[in-house]
Amino acid sequence: MTGRGRGLRQLVGLSVSALALTLAACSPRPQAAPEQPIAYNHQVHVQDEEMECTRCHLGAETQDQAGLPPMTVCAGCHRRQGADIPSVQAFMELYDGGQGEPLAWRKVNVMPESAMVHFRHKPHARAEVGCETCHGDIGSMTVAEQVLNVADMGWCVDCHRREEASIDCLTCHH
Ligand code: HEC
Ligand code: HEC
Ligand code: HEC
Ligand code: HEC
Ligand code: HEC
Repeated sequence: MTGRGRGLRQLVGLSVSALALTLAACSPRPQAAPEQPIAYNHQVHVQDEEMECTRCHLGAETQDQAGLPPMTVCAGCHRRQGADIPSVQAFMELYDGGQGEPLAWRKVNVMPESAMVHFRHKPHARAEVGCETCHGDIGSMTVAEQVLNVADMGWCVDCHRREEASIDCLTCHH
């Protein structure tokens, strides 16, 4: 048997316990925003400074993962801009102290490992499903929060049915 076939068998077996979990959880709520190593404000950058999402989330239209920006992206501007703002100074101290290491942002949207889900941004961008459909109006948020619980198979499958996208188990699971 192939690896993929075995994976599917395990999934179908798991679905019984998943059903129990779903019934117990009823309607899953969005996860609370995690505390970030340093406050980041989308509103300032997206609304006031009119920056494109892909300037920081480099893969959002072309890769599986949208990705979170390394500190070098931020420092490229903040070496010069906003040098008189205390939160910018705090950021640059962290950057110089860590010698430009990537900043470990905490994820807001988290898929449970156990679900073995393969979410891919690129096909959604290609089908012109806007960021806000799944993430809400992030550009006007001062703290990025989850608006919809993305870890909800029913939500994925409902839209796939409506949009005539694939609902084959192996489209989303590996
Ligand atoms: C294209 C340039 C640019 C990039 C890239 C950029 N910023 Fe900014 N940032 C700005 C500008 C312009 C302001 C507003 C400064 C002002 O009001 O004078 C700002 C404001 C800020 C502030 C202070 C405002 C507040 O309320 O928080 C912080 C902190 C900050 N940026 C952090 C970051 C971080 C962290 C990143 C990387 C994830 C980043 N910036 C990327 C240009 C940039
Ligand atoms: C200047 C850089 C910058 C720009 C521009 C930017 N973001 Fe972000 N974004 C970040 C940083 C840094 C984080 C991680 C910290 C946080 O969650 O606030 C983040 C977090 C997020 C998250 C939560 C990711 C997760 O962990 O699940 C989403 C969703 C998001 N951004 C969407 C957008 C969208 C949509 C746009 C355009 C409207 C955008 N961002 C523009 C820097 C940026
Ligand atoms: C169809 C729904 C959907 C759309 C449309 C969508 N996302 Fe996401 N996004 C998700 C899901 C689901 C995750 C969590 C993926 C994971 O953890 O494997 C995520 C995660 C992210 C993250 C966290 C980093 C990462 O790559 O996991 C960022 C940042 C993000 N999205 C930005 C964007 C931006 C910017 C756009 C628009 C260009 C966008 N997303 C469009 C569903 C979507
Ligand atoms: C708002 C509608 C919508 C939501 C919500 C949505 N999708 Fe999609 N998805 C689409 C569309 C439209 C396509 C593109 C179909 C095509 O190109 O034929 C797609 C494509 C995909 C693909 C690529 C399929 C392929 O054949 O290559 C994967 C994988 C995927 N979605 C997984 C997910 C997962 C996992 C979730 C939930 C976390 C999700 N999607 C939520 C609309 C959605
Ligand atoms: C459009 C994407 C998509 C399709 C198609 C899909 N799933 Fe899922 N599935 C998910 C997502 C996202 C989760 C994680 C969130 C949750 O548990 O609701 C999940 C969770 C699960 C879980 C729970 C795993 C765990 O323990 O966390 C099982 C079991 C499962 N799916 C089985 C299936 C089976 C069997 C099929 C085919 C009949 C299928 N899925 C088709 C997206 C999808």
